[in-house]
Amino acid sequence: MPFTAKKGSFKFLLLMLSVMVLGGLFAACGDDDDDEGGQGATNTTEQAGGITSTEMEVFSWWTGGGEAKGLEAMIAIWERDYPNVEFNNAAVAGGAGSNAKAVLAQRLAANDPPDSFQGHAGAELSDYIKAGQIQALNQYYDEWGLNDVFPQDLIDQITVDGKVYSVPVNIHRANVLWYNPAILTEAGIAAPPKTMDEFFAAMDKVKAKGKTALSLGEQWTVKHLMETVMIAELGADGWADLWTKAGDWKSANVTKALDTFKKVMTYVNSDYASLTWQDAAKQVVDGKAAFNIMGDWAEGYFLELGKKANVDYGWAASPGTAGIYDWLSDSFTLATGAPHEDAALAWLKLCGSKEGQDAFNPAKGSIPARKDADVNKYGVYLKSAMDDWKTATLAGSLAHGVVANNAWSTDIDGALGLFLQNKDVAKFQTALATAHATHTA
Ligand code: GAL
Repeated sequence: MPFTAKKGSFKFLLLMLSVMVLGGLFAACGDDDDDEGGQGATNTTEQAGGITSTEMEVFSWWTGGGEAKGLEAMIAIWERDYPNVEFNNAAVAGGAGSNAKAVLAQRLAANDPPDSFQGHAGAELSDYIKAGQIQALNQYYDEWGLNDVFPQDLIDQITVDGKVYSVPVNIHRANVLWYNPAILTEAGIAAPPKTMDEFFAAMDKVKAKGKTALSLGEQWTVKHLMETVMIAELGADGWADLWTKAGDWKSANVTKALDTFKKVMTYVNSDYASLTWQDAAKQVVDGKAAFNIMGDWAEGYFLELGKKANVDYGWAASPGTAGIYDWLSDSFTLATGAPHEDAALAWLKLCGSKEGQDAFNPAKGSIPARKDADVNKYGVYLKSAMDDWKTATLAGSLAHGVVANNAWSTDIDGALGLFLQNKDVAKFQTALATAHATHTA
C-alpha cells in the first residue's frame, strides 16, 4: 500500500492531543444542540435501536447517474429500520466531490458538521483526522464485529495511531477502460488494447471512422485519466514512490509519462471541459465514442441507463495496467460534534453491515469492502472485479484521495489546469515537482 501516514512524530502527537481535547469540546457542543433543538418531546421517546434523535444528516456527492441509486438502496433499509428518524440526504452534486468537498470544508470550519460525511480512505481521510473533524470508532468496530470483515490493508488506510476513523462501504477500481464493442468491430479492432501503443493504434482506427476515440469530461476526469496513464508508464511501484518524500518527480520516466498523457489528450472530444463524467461515459454506450477511462461507478450508471454488460459496453484494465488495481474506497465518518450522534452511529453500523453493503454496491458499481459479501447479488463486471481484487497489485488513486491529501491534490489541479492551456510538459513537470516538495516538506 502506498499511503504512509507520518505517524509517531512529536508534532503529530501534539496535533492529536489537541484534536482529542477539541473533539471532546465539540462533542459536548453537539449534545447541547440536540437538547436545545426544539425536539424535546420526541427526544424522550425511544425509537428502534434506542435512538432518541428524530433526524440524521448524511453528506456525500451521490446525486445521480447510478451513484444516487446505491445510496437510495441504503436509505430504504434505513427507513425500514428507523421509520421515525428522518434521513436527511445532504448530497451535493459534482463527481468526485468536486463541489461537495468545498461545501463540506466550509461547514466544518463553521462548526456546522453533518452527522456523517463521505471521505476517501487514505490521505484524504487523514486530513480530517489531523484537523480533529472526525471521531475514532474502535469501540464500534469491536461491537459490530468489523475488525475481521474488512481487508487489513484497507483498515490500515483509515487508521492513525491505532485509532480507526471511518467505515468503508466499498472498493472502487479507477483504471477501467470502458468500450463500445460495436464501434471496435466496425473499426477493425479485434480486442481491447493492452498497451499504450495498441491504444494509440486503436484510437487512430476509430478516428478514421469519424467517431470520438476517447470521451472525456470536466477537469477531475482529466486528472483521473492522467493518473491511469502515469500508472501505465511508471508501474505500481514507480507510482507509489512519487507520493513518498523521496519521490522523484523530475525523473525522465515522469517526463515520458507526461508526454504520453499529452498525446492521449489529442484523441479526446474538444468539449470535454463542459461535460460531466456521466456525459462522457454515456457517449460510449450511445455509440458516439469508442473508449472512456473511468472508475467502475460508470457501470452503475450504464446499468441504470438499462444497458447490458458485454453487449452495450465491454471493459478491460486501462491500457498498460493489467494486473494493477488503481483502487479507492468510499467511507463514512462520525463527525466531531455530530448533532445526532446516536443516529449517526446507527447509520455507520448499516454502512458496515453485510445487508447494507450488498444493497449498496451492486447498484453503485463497486465491490463490497466486506470480505463475506453475497457474490450472487453482483453482476458479471463486478464478479470479475472481485476476482481481480484478490490477486491484483494495488496502486492508490490520486483523483480519489488515496495517495495525496486535499491540499496537495488541489495544487496538482492548478498545475494541470495550466497544462491544459499551454500543453507545456516541462512547465507542468516543474509545477508537479514543486507541489511534491511543498507537501512532503
Ligand atoms: C469518487 C467516489 C465514487 C464516485 C466518483 C464519481 O470520488 O469515490 O464513489 O462517486 O467519485 O463521483
